[in-house]
Amino acid sequence: MGGPDDLRIVRAPGRVNLMGDHTDYQEGFCLPVAIDRYVYVACRPHRSQTIAHYNESFVLPVAIDRECVAAVLPRSDGRVVARSLDMEGVLDVAADGSDHPDTVDPPWGRVVAAVVAALATRGRDPVGADVAVSSAVPVGSGLSSSAAFEVAVALALCDAASFELDPVHVALACREAEHRATGVPCGVMDQLASACGVTGHALLVDCRSLGVLPIPLPPDLAILVVHSGESRALTNTPYAQRRAACEQTARRFGVATLRDAAAEQVADEPLARHVVTENARVAATALALAAGDVDALADAFAASHASLRDDFACSTPELDDLVDGLVAAGATGARLTGAGWGGCAVALVPHDRLEAVRASAGDREQWVCRAVDGAGPMEA
Ligand code: GLA
Repeated sequence: MGGPDDLRIVRAPGRVNLMGDHTDYQEGFCLPVAIDRYVYVACRPHRSQTIAHYNESFVLPVAIDRECVAAVLPRSDGRVVARSLDMEGVLDVAADGSDHPDTVDPPWGRVVAAVVAALATRGRDPVGADVAVSSAVPVGSGLSSSAAFEVAVALALCDAASFELDPVHVALACREAEHRATGVPCGVMDQLASACGVTGHALLVDCRSLGVLPIPLPPDLAILVVHSGESRALTNTPYAQRRAACEQTARRFGVATLRDAAAEQVADEPLARHVVTENARVAATALALAAGDVDALADAFAASHASLRDDFACSTPELDDLVDGLVAAGATGARLTGAGWGGCAVALVPHDRLEAVRASAGDREQWVCRAVDGAGPMEA
């Protein structure tokens, strides 16, 4: 019998990456932070045909629309039915994962279908569920709205079927879902950050072993994220070509991935040189954060942005101007964050300069972010 007690809410954070871009799919290192912008999923397992009664006393987080959750219709077992509070349409797929993402509508539901399938292959029972999704992670900004969406849906579906999956495997299932639903051959950083975040910490991620080491963030530096004004979806960028080019170079050097390439080997190879030098900057940044060494942070951020701009060629004039302006206004360091080709810059800013640095960004959208825990259930 369904009832208000069955209604569970999970949330999954977006992420901002402090250092280590275009390294994850070369088994390198990165340093993301799970941020206090979430995708929320309300979910009710669907084990019987009985419509659940909605309990007015149940307190929902602001981002979840009470009407929409209440409007879920009764359905037969074995279906996952998902609504989005932000996008049109209702998704209805088999909970056993047999619906191929390419065949489903609405388009945003393809990722949900792919998550259902990825969990099914990992042994989740085909328990149906009514799912309502609401996102407060800015879309098209490089803050991993899509990974947060996948992780939130995955946790809700695991919860509905009492299926246990540790956060790293949730992240791997979600990366598989992203590949299948969008065709973008992303690495694991975004999903891992959303699943494994730690309050007050950045995550030093080894993308080969999938080990995650929390690095304390200096309390006197704020994390400021500013949108360049250019929105983009990874499907419309050269992301896949860059990844393929890195793989080709690794093969030419006879190494499994560019993580294993030596600095001398890649001296004349801009893409590979970016990956190798960026991996070193991740280690330097983790040490500098832990030691509160602002000079080392400034150096690493400046070198990283230059490398992304000149070697990896994934910056834009807007991002370059933005980064220059943030540093000129007093940020300790600033760089583009995520895949680039638009999206956001991230800056570390001493609190007493925050106002001036924010003002330098003019009317661009901006967020001061806190480092939060990874995805999980919300207390009702
Ligand atoms: C996107 C991908 C990640 C990573 C970054 C660049 O966010 O989803 O896997 O490759 O770009 O660092």
